Amino acid sequence: MTRSALHTSLCDDLGIDYPIFLAGMGVKGKATPPKLVAAVSEAGGMGILGCSWLDADEVRRRIRAVRNLTDKPFGVDLLLPASMADASPDRDEMRARIERDHPKHVEFVRALMDRFSLTPITAKGGVMSAEFIRAQVNVCLEERIAVFAAGLGDPSWVVPLAHQVGMKVMGLVGSVRGAERQAQGGVDYVIAQGYEAGGHTGKIANFPLIPMVVDAVSPTPVIAAGAIADGRTLVAGLSLGAVGAWVGTAFLLAEESDLYPVHQEEIIRGVTEDFVITRAYTGKTARDYDNDVIRAWEQSGLKPLAMPLQGVLMDDFIAAADAAGRADLINNPVGQIGGMLKKKRPAREILLGMVREAEEVMGRLQSMRAA
Ligand SMILES: Cc1cc2nc3c(=O)[nH]c(=O)nc-3n(C[C@H](O)[C@H](O)[C@H](O)COP(=O)(O)O)c2cc1C
Repeated sequence: MTRSALHTSLCDDLGIDYPIFLAGMGVKGKATPPKLVAAVSEAGGMGILGCSWLDADEVRRRIRAVRNLTDKPFGVDLLLPASMADASPDRDEMRARIERDHPKHVEFVRALMDRFSLTPITAKGGVMSAEFIRAQVNVCLEERIAVFAAGLGDPSWVVPLAHQVGMKVMGLVGSVRGAERQAQGGVDYVIAQGYEAGGHTGKIANFPLIPMVVDAVSPTPVIAAGAIADGRTLVAGLSLGAVGAWVGTAFLLAEESDLYPVHQEEIIRGVTEDFVITRAYTGKTARDYDNDVIRAWEQSGLKPLAMPLQGVLMDDFIAAADAAGRADLINNPVGQIGGMLKKKRPAREILLGMVREAEEVMGRLQSMRAA
């Protein structure tokens, strides 16, 4: 097989054919199920399991499920938020704390429940706390996956532990300062994620962010994230100095995705202006499909609670909406490039389509040179 023109140093380093990742996407395990992760790795890219909200046992179960489907390398993405409001892993304790300290927020959720005639349900499972995260990380180290990626916070404490067992570490950032911190912490790759991206996102767009991060952290290689969904946007990321692409939103319409069908319809129907920034669901700025809950939150004038309190507050509402079949009230993180996506396709077709188009774009750019 002849090598793709897209074959970068990253491909040799990680043993993959194309420098394209399925970005780790949390949302309670629906966006990056094992079958999607395996499909992307099988197609020559690298799938990343988004495990941020899943407890350690479930992280292990999913890693093993991917291994049952493919021998190719894959990774896990977790969130390592810098501050966690002294979180306890016990959900009841956190719920009681919110009821005691934040009655207006509790009232906001009660009013939402009434407005949509939802039956109260208490969400289950552990809360993202230092203890919860440490157990998740331990599973990744024990299972010796190829890549550990951190979506928020500082993974420098994971770096030596991961290197000891032959794993690569990637840290996702939205600013030059964040990138410098990650590089100093010894990560193998910095993922620079622009404002365009879906999910938690910063304030700087990719055109300025990627070249500035590339310059700031050199020789640490950089992977571009945010609004990469076809050959043109892939080549754009590489031309800004990145050695690979971290693709989230485009894979939300993969046939192997477990996203709510309603959420996939929102993406197909949506225009870029529908994918707005809000702190309603997690307390941190995230780009989600606009809905009645986000609009009510913005009108409430309330300040978001620190992570993970806002999430615990909203989890009970999400559980009730889920039970009532109202996925339209549940957060649907989508990037600005969602406006370009119009149909569901197998993951392999999404990935290989991007590769084919990118090769054509590169050929076209070369033929633009004066003879
Ligand atoms: C549905 C969804 C969930 C996400 N969840 C996470 C997450 O749990 N951890 C993380 O590091 N990044 C998360 N992200 C961000 C992605 O890793 C990635 O950086 C982003 O999707 C890239 O931009 P794009 O959506 O325009 O492709 C999420 C993105 C989306 C769309």
